[in-house]
Amino acid sequence: MARVRTGVLISGRGSNLQALLDAAADPSFPAEIVCVISNRPGAGGLARAEAAGVPALTVDHKAFDTREAFEAALDAALEHQGVELVCLAGFMRLLTPGFVSRWTGRMINIHPSLLPAFKGVDTHQRALDAGVKLTGASVHFVSAEMDAGPIIGQGAVPVLPGDDAAALAARILEVEHALYPECLRLVASGEARLTDGRVVLTRGAAPRSQLLNPPARS
Ligand code: GAR
Repeated sequence: MARVRTGVLISGRGSNLQALLDAAADPSFPAEIVCVISNRPGAGGLARAEAAGVPALTVDHKAFDTREAFEAALDAALEHQGVELVCLAGFMRLLTPGFVSRWTGRMINIHPSLLPAFKGVDTHQRALDAGVKLTGASVHFVSAEMDAGPIIGQGAVPVLPGDDAAALAARILEVEHALYPECLRLVASGEARLTDGRVVLTRGAAPRSQLLNPPARS
């Protein structure tokens, strides 16, 4: 079966991009990464794409007068590569409703919190400040509202005594690297479908039924 032509948009170091590239290196993975585009020149993720033999492009938002002009250039680059599905992987530019609507149901994002909690930036410090005992990462279809949109999958980690934002970010990042390829697999294979604004999985192993922090005493 033809693999889904997937473009990844990044702004930084690209560790999630790496997880996607690694998964897609298996020819039986249902998505093929056909291009990586950064809005920041010199983003670390660009070198990761080149190392994997994937075209790495920069569309510098600063070179455009308006968001719309920047997004038109992004669209053209994606179109040129025949991209069918877009993954945002640490892409830190807000997208206009116009761009989002052109990619509805065909663009997914990873965010380092259990959405809808802690949308936006500084998520780890805000989770610590709120005193939550579990946090994690979410992969969702992109909608016009930032860090919203139907959730495809989530992974949880405990918040441990003594955690600072960096320690929590590192624990969540490990989950991100497992979660994002799995969610991309589900979307690209058609096992995750958007139905009435929710994501329905056509099959799936039952997850562990409880995640407690602190754990219950046995
Ligand atoms: C990741 O933690 C990702 O979840 C987050 O940026 C980081 C990028 O790291 N994304 C957001 O906060 C989006 N709202 P990476 O470049 O190493 O993948």
